[in-house]
Amino acid sequence: MDKLVIRGGNPLLGTIRVSGAKNAALPAMAAALLTEEPVILENIPQVRDIITERNLLAAMGAEVELGYGRAQHRTTLCCRHLVNPEASYELVKTMRASTLVLGPLVARTGEARVSLPGGCAIGARPIDLHIKGLEKLGAEITQEHGYIKAQAKRLKGAHIVFEKITVTGTEDLLMAATLADGDTVMENCAREPEVTDLANLLVKMGARIDGIGTSTLKIHGVEKLHGAKHRIIPDRIEAGTFIIAGALTGGDLMIQGCDPSHLGALLSKLEENGVKLRVNSDTVRVMGDSQLKPSDITTEEYPGFPTDMQAQYMTLATQCEGTSVVVENIFENRFMHAQELVRMGANIKIEGRRAIVRGRTPLSGAAVQASDLRASASLVIAALVAEGETIIDRVYHIDRGYEHIEEKLRNVGAEIKRIGELFPRKASPVAVS
Ligand code: UD1
Repeated sequence: MDKLVIRGGNPLLGTIRVSGAKNAALPAMAAALLTEEPVILENIPQVRDIITERNLLAAMGAEVELGYGRAQHRTTLCCRHLVNPEASYELVKTMRASTLVLGPLVARTGEARVSLPGGCAIGARPIDLHIKGLEKLGAEITQEHGYIKAQAKRLKGAHIVFEKITVTGTEDLLMAATLADGDTVMENCAREPEVTDLANLLVKMGARIDGIGTSTLKIHGVEKLHGAKHRIIPDRIEAGTFIIAGALTGGDLMIQGCDPSHLGALLSKLEENGVKLRVNSDTVRVMGDSQLKPSDITTEEYPGFPTDMQAQYMTLATQCEGTSVVVENIFENRFMHAQELVRMGANIKIEGRRAIVRGRTPLSGAAVQASDLRASASLVIAALVAEGETIIDRVYHIDRGYEHIEEKLRNVGAEIKRIGELFPRKASPVAVS
């Protein structure tokens, strides 16, 4: 298993370019299942989860064409012949978002067999809302041998009210409803920019959707969708991660190619902390020489503070003068990074869904373990400000969602390298974010 070795203390100076959003690319790739024609996706990040999804679609019979050279972030998917409408346990266990194929598969082919996601590093993450919604759309659902099987001659429009806001649940049912017979109204939908990006792609493919960007989506089902070309939105979580890194390392960092309008809750919180920011249409400049004030956050659905930025914010809170309270409202077990931050010198007390962070505590390099994707990002940031050397184990978590992170950080002055094991052990199968 690879490890990252980081020597802290260098100010980050220069420009980092943000990649396409993994969480927008994954549903966009699943949307290709809805049509026989090619779907051309640009700005696809080169991260492990994207490879997993490509393998998943290819196993179903999708033709996948990857761009080279300057077009290396382009992926063309053509699902003309779908031979095997199944998402196997082997793939679903490493990436829970594989369940995104459930809705489009049953809508297009009349059947889908998708493994239930297994044990999960950030809490129990059921897919009951995907299943209930598909049942409302007329699918017959059975469960056997750890798999969910969905069948329907043709899905029928329905009225769906989500009991709880779910991002991939909204995306899954939105895709399914585009090919249903009649109108579907979905209430209490997730409003994350990634949901909006998917809806915009579906409209380009011929879907009829009203209310895009709001919590009520109205879908008028059509018989067929066609191919389209679409550019994936920038990754707001990657941008936010680098903004926090810049705020803590005392340099002057330009985050380029991001969409600051997707970063509202984070940027206003950082301003409260006293971080010096200059925001433009597609750049955020962060000047990290200020003394930081503490502040509290509560994770919420978009446009609230994102749970995917909670771990990175906790690292920032360790460097603020005073006490910050971090409340995690979305997932019940998403504080695993706290223990590792404590090992680096942080003062953090966990009380259920609340973490009380007392700062400012100097951090010192240590051997730490990444437990999930965003937890690993918080440890990278901590390592960049720590005194001495930090070795982060289980780097495969970060490779799931951050494109060329070492290269990007090294280019702005970080001392970071990757070391591999001579005799790699097998990565443990955990499904996260
Ligand atoms: C997506 C993101 C992930 C992010 C999360 C919350 C992708 C690929 N992943 O995950 O990075 O952390 O949104 O912003 O986009 N729930 C149920 N039943 C369901 C579905 C969800 O109870 O059927 C619960 C979950 O356990 C959780 C909450 O709803 O407590 C929100 O989960 P959800 O929005 O579905 O997260 P994901 O879509 O899996």
